[in-house]
Amino acid sequence: MANVTVIGSQWGDEGNGKIVDWLSARADVIVRFQGGHNAGHTLVIGDTVFKLSLLPSGVVRPGKLSVIGNGVVVDPWALLEEIETVRGQGVEVSPETLMIAENATLILPIHQAIDRAREIARGSAKIGTTGRGIGPAYEDKVARRAIRLCDLAEPEILTAKLDQLLAHHNAYLRGVGEPEIATEAVLKKLEPVRARILPYAGVAWQRLEQLRRAGRRILFEGAQGIMLDVDHGTYPYVTSSNTIAGQAANGSGLGPGATGFVLGITKAYTTRVGSGPFPTELHDTIGQRLGERGREFGTVTGRARRCGWFDAVMVRQAAKLGGINGIALTKLDVLDGLSELKICTAYRLGGSLVHHLPAGERAQAAVEPIYETLDGWTDSTQGARSWADLPANAIKYIRRLEELIETPVALLSTSPEREDTILVRDPFQD
Ligand code: GDP
Ligand code: IMO
Ligand code: MG
Repeated sequence: MANVTVIGSQWGDEGNGKIVDWLSARADVIVRFQGGHNAGHTLVIGDTVFKLSLLPSGVVRPGKLSVIGNGVVVDPWALLEEIETVRGQGVEVSPETLMIAENATLILPIHQAIDRAREIARGSAKIGTTGRGIGPAYEDKVARRAIRLCDLAEPEILTAKLDQLLAHHNAYLRGVGEPEIATEAVLKKLEPVRARILPYAGVAWQRLEQLRRAGRRILFEGAQGIMLDVDHGTYPYVTSSNTIAGQAANGSGLGPGATGFVLGITKAYTTRVGSGPFPTELHDTIGQRLGERGREFGTVTGRARRCGWFDAVMVRQAAKLGGINGIALTKLDVLDGLSELKICTAYRLGGSLVHHLPAGERAQAAVEPIYETLDGWTDSTQGARSWADLPANAIKYIRRLEELIETPVALLSTSPEREDTILVRDPFQD
């Protein structure tokens, strides 16, 4: 398989950014295919830390092409700001190194206004969104009224489409007592960014197809995780896109055969940011310790992430849903020094045992984890760069996870730093 698709197998923040950056040394093209600037991908290279939201994580390596595919929702202001930030860190970004699909959907300020208003209206049942307007922008796309990147090149069409879009949304904003937004105000805001963003617009599907035919290696970079998938996740506490591997094809314009090896990024424990069910969540000192050692604070919103034990039922389900061929196990080092480790191997629901996460909201909130306990390890795994450096109990833990999730480990990550990564099985060679 020449290509690799990287997706998160839990609730996001599994370390996609780090792994995509590491793998991008072996790739020619790196493609984002869903999500938007709700993503926060962290890369640590020596003393430099990059926090990327819309730019593919391969962008920091010279000589690679970065593509933002049609499946991504693009906030032009956020993107331009991100480009300026990474330029300030010495990264070259130009229309030669970055292409944005001309048919990508735009996020406009109205989407953020609606995102906020909806969250307020939901009260205690709020999703805990990132407030970036992701959901409302995807809704507009499906409703066939979205403004797309190519529309910025057609002023008359843009004005007419904005009139329609705002007439639709202002009715809602009026209803909830929020200020309305006028077409002229949006046009005025768009004016300075139009000329700056249009040079990056291109026929991404065609470029990708040509590169693929020429034998170039494509690395697809997912955002969020499978349990945040709008179909398969903990609905309605999900994001508004498909996060599974199949979306790499839809969101880039390549056929389903292009996705190649599917690498599921998997944290050695579990975290979630925002509301929604979390069967293995810990409210005790161990949960607190995981959060502290793992520095579990949202990259985008700074919110503390909820932490818990590894949920093998959920990851096994994710591996099947995502067509995951192998996992990259990350943050093993965060478990160093714990005397024992728990793994959820099944759920109890009412009087029965269940081996998958049911779809219903009530059942998802009610399932209780059944744990198996393993001995921890006292030696450090932090920064380990070879399998032989791992304590015996850490290897036992990894082997047990592989067995329970029915998926092998292809990569192991032992710190935020790029090079603290152990290759077990090369996804590009598989
Ligand atoms: P992403 O959204 O999946 O790219 O992940 P984030 O960047 O939001 O969160 C993952 C965090 O864990 C970042 O701060 C990474 O630098 C860090 N990280 C990634 N891999 C490892 C690892 O193996 N060990 C430790 N300790 N931290 C890691
Ligand atoms: P990366 O790519 C973790 C969560 C939000 C919220 C839900 C819906 O860094 O892993 P949205 O703004 O998308 O409508 O929010 O999804 N969420 C993430 N959680 N990592 C992410 O991205 C996330 N992107 C969205 O917290 O619960
Ligand atoms: Mg993140």
